[in-house]
Amino acid sequence: MISKLQQLKENALAELQTAKTEDQFLAVRTKYIGRKGLLTGLLRNIAQVSDAEKPLFGKLCNELKNLLNDKIEEELQQQAIRNKEDVLLKEKIDVTLPGSVIKCGRIHPVIQIRREICSIFASFGFSVVEGPEVELDYYNFEALNIAKDHPARDMQDTFYIEDNIVLRTHTSPVQVRVMEKVQPPLRILSPGRVYRRDSDVSHTPMFHQIEGLLVDKGVSFGDLKGILTAFLKKIFGEGTTLRFRPSFFPFTEPSAEVDIRCVMCGGSGCRVCGQSGWLEILGSGMVDPAVFENVDYDSEEYSGFAFGLGLERIAMLKYGISDIRLFFENDIRFLKQF
Ligand code: DAH
Repeated sequence: MISKLQQLKENALAELQTAKTEDQFLAVRTKYIGRKGLLTGLLRNIAQVSDAEKPLFGKLCNELKNLLNDKIEEELQQQAIRNKEDVLLKEKIDVTLPGSVIKCGRIHPVIQIRREICSIFASFGFSVVEGPEVELDYYNFEALNIAKDHPARDMQDTFYIEDNIVLRTHTSPVQVRVMEKVQPPLRILSPGRVYRRDSDVSHTPMFHQIEGLLVDKGVSFGDLKGILTAFLKKIFGEGTTLRFRPSFFPFTEPSAEVDIRCVMCGGSGCRVCGQSGWLEILGSGMVDPAVFENVDYDSEEYSGFAFGLGLERIAMLKYGISDIRLFFENDIRFLKQF
């Protein structure tokens, strides 16, 4: 038995000499010291060894088993290190190659103007409130003193969702929603999207407005003029000339539209201002007592003013953009300029 063991040792060591791959080493291990391996088999037959030789035989078997185990284990570890080195060599990164440029987004010009206007009015004590774009007829028209048969409904071509539900045609309904919930004094600004069936160089079916509302005791037309003048000088420059022109809105009385001297021609008359020298910037007026009545405000005690302006129009005039549709084409060459 001991000579058999000697033979087995020589064979096993010779096979390890020629083994190269991980699989080959694993095969040697299975062949000799696996559960059904040759060495395992020899040990199992220890009963056939004479009692005198048993201790020596057992010792030799165990030594061989450990030897094979250690050798194979070491080979496998070496193999793993070589594999890792191979991978690292192949994965070499050339840090001098130019990287791929990640294009950076910009704040859309309409949003820039919106932020600028909101921060100007924040400095006047106004806070920002938003309202729904899908609006009840009641808030969009009725509560603003625009009855069903009111001719002013024709001024704004409305998208109807249902009989009494519309896409809001202006941000004015937010005035009513706020006044229903909050008691005066209040100063709010409400930016957002509005919708009208209209499309040409200066109209898109969706555009942005900002609505303003101030209600308190003793508010006069002078306050309206003061705040709107300060605002327009901040946004278009201190030297801006403006005028308040009498106008009509169902929800304000008296009403005024505010014009600034044409920013393109300086007032001498051009295509942009239709040769008038003036550009219409916003609508405004003292809140009509009929609107206060709809929200249970006492118009004997309180008065207020409101205004509304179009953001795209302001951005077009401020940046000299001639076609409103450019805002919505998402052409990066256009957007990059702001
Ligand atoms: N809602 C008006 C529009 O869309 C703009 C407007 C005019 C708003 C006068 C007001 C206002 O609050 O007082 O044309």
